[in-house]
Amino acid sequence: MREYSLRSKAQTFLSTCSLCYCVREVVSVYDGEGIAIGLSIAQIQPKMVWFILGFVAISLIAVYAYNRFIYTYWWRQGVPYISPSVPFGNFWNVITQRECFAEGYRAIYDRCTGPWVGFFLLHKPVLMVKDPELIRTILMTNFANFHDRGMYVNEKNDPLSAHLFSLSGQKWRKLRAQLTSTFSSGKLKRMTPIMVSCTEELSLHLQECEDVVELKEILASFSTDVIASCAFGIQCNSLRDPNAEFRKWGRKMFEPGPENTFRSILCFLYPSIASFLRVRSMVSGVTEFFQSVVRETIEYRETKDISRPDFMQLLIQLKNHGELQDDEPDKQTILSTDKTSLTENEVTAQAFVFFFAGFETSSTTINFCLYELAMNQHIQARLRKEISLVLDQHDGKISYEAVQSMEYLDRVVAETLRKYPPLGWLNRECTGSFSLPGTPCVLEKGTGIVISLLGMHRDPLYYPDPDKFDPERFTEENKKSRPHCTYMPFGEGPRICIGASSFK
Ligand code: HEM
Repeated sequence: MREYSLRSKAQTFLSTCSLCYCVREVVSVYDGEGIAIGLSIAQIQPKMVWFILGFVAISLIAVYAYNRFIYTYWWRQGVPYISPSVPFGNFWNVITQRECFAEGYRAIYDRCTGPWVGFFLLHKPVLMVKDPELIRTILMTNFANFHDRGMYVNEKNDPLSAHLFSLSGQKWRKLRAQLTSTFSSGKLKRMTPIMVSCTEELSLHLQECEDVVELKEILASFSTDVIASCAFGIQCNSLRDPNAEFRKWGRKMFEPGPENTFRSILCFLYPSIASFLRVRSMVSGVTEFFQSVVRETIEYRETKDISRPDFMQLLIQLKNHGELQDDEPDKQTILSTDKTSLTENEVTAQAFVFFFAGFETSSTTINFCLYELAMNQHIQARLRKEISLVLDQHDGKISYEAVQSMEYLDRVVAETLRKYPPLGWLNRECTGSFSLPGTPCVLEKGTGIVISLLGMHRDPLYYPDPDKFDPERFTEENKKSRPHCTYMPFGEGPRICIGASSFK
């Protein structure tokens, strides 16, 4: 047995720090089985002890002073703020996973009594904006000063990170222009049969199930099947096969746990450190999976000259021609005239973000909607009546037009998205300095901005009795009575969710 005669942690620390300077003698003792190194505190010169203690004390004071300085940022700016604590700022509950990000932001929203409030995400000063008029300025009228999200992108080491959601500046602008028309109503209409065939599968599956079903898993599999067919043209049948590859990776990407939390905090708050450390924004294996799926799909379609009415086909067109060979030119594509073709990695990143951004959001929405319908039987009865009536008028078939004419369904979905916005907040980065209206404060370039959707959607000021599920809040008349930018489940302005049109 090896025996180390260092008696305390202090001694261990001292011995490692000061080995070169103050060890007078190192005694090797043979105890019969191994070597033990003996070093006693008495063997360290007193001068060195004072030096080390002084060094530690100065370091602690420096760290404290640095934290104090950082944490007085909003005070120095003259902006009201929520007192942070060292070293997690105002995000202790999120870091320790007692709250998710959306709940953490909502707590700040609820504590804020004015139009905006400063807070700290660890050490990063962020401004939460509550005032609908200022929100409108940031998201729409002054978009030029807030066009980015300040997210992690590393095209070289993490090609999947270079997708529409995280790209900034000119790159985002060009890509958004190219991709916007892939979500035009005409193209969505042509994809409807693909979605309908997935719903038929769902219906068959439910008939085969027992009385009690794990709906969350079933809906996650259903959404996976829909997005995999629409985005990749792949029938993965995860409803029947819970271990289907797409479902497996979808599960891994959204698995709550310290690894995913740490990764998102690093990529979201310290993108340059994440980039330097070559951290990947997704769990390992995801990049390789999506790269191989896209490569094989492109190869298969190009060698066999196969065309399908799905996103992958449109992305292939953008890869080969830099624009869509379009039968229905889209007004919104005037954002940019750059028609550079997409590389295969760019195609992969976009196909990935359609999957990543589309599958969990849709599945969560259906989940909460069904939950509320179960809890509110009178709403369910009214909705069933409308659906039956409309289907009767369309030969009993679900079609794009049939769904478009279901007004009450629209209200029920809108109320679900109000109460449970799948993305609970919006964020922007100040891309040019900006004066906060009516104050001497100038927001510096790089300042983070957060808008709490969960906070706004549950604010009794805009939605009296906010926990009540009430689709009547979305009649045309009631919608008009609320200020603009108080209902934004898909975001707002030029960076609004690109998939929003598929829900209207
Ligand atoms: C219930 C369903 C969905 C919800 C609630 C939702 C919500 C959102 C929100 C809040 C944003 C941020 C907007 C902003 O910052 O102003 C966003 C962005 C985005 N969403 Fe969705 N989304 C949904 C479905 C989808 C689907 C089905 C797709 C694709 C197939 C998609 C693709 C995207 C993309 C690519 C962006 C980034 C847009 C950009 O920065 O230009 N989303 N979504």
